Amino acid sequence: MYKEIFSKYEPTKDNLIYILHEIQDKHPQHYISEDAVDKVAEYLKVPANHIYGVLTFYTMYSTTPRGKNIIRLCESPPCYIKGTVNILRKLKALLDVEIGETTKDGHFTLELCACLGVCGNAPVMMINEDVYGDLTEEKVEDIIEKYRRAK
Ligand code: FES
Repeated sequence: MYKEIFSKYEPTKDNLIYILHEIQDKHPQHYISEDAVDKVAEYLKVPANHIYGVLTFYTMYSTTPRGKNIIRLCESPPCYIKGTVNILRKLKALLDVEIGETTKDGHFTLELCACLGVCGNAPVMMINEDVYGDLTEEKVEDIIEKYRRAK
């Protein structure tokens, strides 16, 4: 995997975030492992500490394994006003997890995020690359069920 990703990018520091992005996307558990950090450090000839600095600065990166499906619930004001709290409560109950946790079966990770750019459909969440808006508790239940069936 690393060889294929590195072949697309010159070994310059400017490409660090793109490389990390791609590694995280391609990893089945959607995270950056210690091994990945070492490989990237070697390729870009930068200290591993520099890479960990970037990983902790940007919330989009994870250094711990995550679920097959990443749920990102928008918590920015327009969504919050339209009911993020109720949707979050429903998701926690359905999945039996807290924010930042992964379900025991490794199928879902629940995260909060900032505006997804579709505030007109608040409240909004993303699951992997798919956006779901105008959420209600009933709608959330159906969506989660759809992903469970797709196991
Ligand atoms: S505030 Fe939630 S999508 Fe913009």
